[in-house]
Amino acid sequence: MPELDPFTGRTAVVTGAAGGIGAALAAELGARGMSVVLADIDEIGVRRTAAELCARGIRALGYGVDVSDPGSVAELAAVSYEEFGSVELLCNNAGVLLFGEVADATIGDWRWLSSVNVEGMLNCLHAFLPRMRQTTGWRHVMNTASTHAFLPDTSTSALYSATKHAVVGITLGLRPELAEDGIGVTLLCPGQAATRILDAQRNRPEGYGRRAREPFGTGVIPLAIEPHEVARIAVDGILASDPLVFALPEFSRETFRGQVEQMWRMADDALADRVETSCPAVD
Ligand SMILES: NC(=O)c1ccc[n+]([C@@H]2O[C@H](COP(=O)([O-])OP(=O)(O)OC[C@H]3O[C@@H](n4cnc5c(N)ncnc54)[C@H](O)[C@@H]3O)[C@@H](O)[C@H]2O)c1
Repeated sequence: MPELDPFTGRTAVVTGAAGGIGAALAAELGARGMSVVLADIDEIGVRRTAAELCARGIRALGYGVDVSDPGSVAELAAVSYEEFGSVELLCNNAGVLLFGEVADATIGDWRWLSSVNVEGMLNCLHAFLPRMRQTTGWRHVMNTASTHAFLPDTSTSALYSATKHAVVGITLGLRPELAEDGIGVTLLCPGQAATRILDAQRNRPEGYGRRAREPFGTGVIPLAIEPHEVARIAVDGILASDPLVFALPEFSRETFRGQVEQMWRMADDALADRVETSCPAVD
């Protein structure tokens, strides 16, 4: 039986929490009684967001971290444990996006996307899990992927989608692995949330080369679900220990379902062909 209120008096670490979905997750968890460490590469922004939560009576700490750097993440873990004594919930939410054709992309584009979206998540798991495993009681990990990880048509988002496929694969593998320690795992897949993700290159380090073209501009995503709504759905999913949580605008749910079904049909058709050719009838 899941605990009715696992949140009160416990601590969550949320990466990518200066704004958008991460800030909303931190606010939702704080409102439900958790202390929260908000971590982000945008140190000024994350300290400001944490201060806003403190002003609302939430115990919150804002901390500058680059999730792609294992040393920086180790410091985040040390500070979280020093400040709050324990961590029961890890939300690997920091993520970056860019659109464009695969053929036009540079290796720098790929390295930057995967260093944050995939290695960032792994660095945080490696920094926090050993200590989370040593304790008992309610503990949980939530990794943020995307509806893009499920779409058959990833034209103009193939590199981003590939990193989010990796988040799906790692998270689905992690769930049975951590079940042995009594740690729950949830995969969050938002779609079209009103955040600054189209302007993700605002935080692209120079070492990854030139800023890629932004074919859809850098404004807030239009016709989108609000981050606080994503956070409410996600936190309910954590509470229920759901393996998979989707959070997308009402009007686009049927379209998304159709796209997922299209992918299954593709697999079904391929499988049917294969069965016919590789298993000739035996007399
Ligand atoms: N907005 C959407 O429609 C949408 C859809 C699907 C998935 N997502 C995912 O949701 C998550 C949150 O994105 P968002 O939409 O709130 O966008 P956002 O840009 O508002 O938030 C992402 C945060 O990650 C931080 N960040 C970037 N690089 C970092 C690094 N190296 N280390 C630490 N922090 C870093 C950014 O500073 C930013 O505050 C991401 O993983 C994103 O891929 C968003």
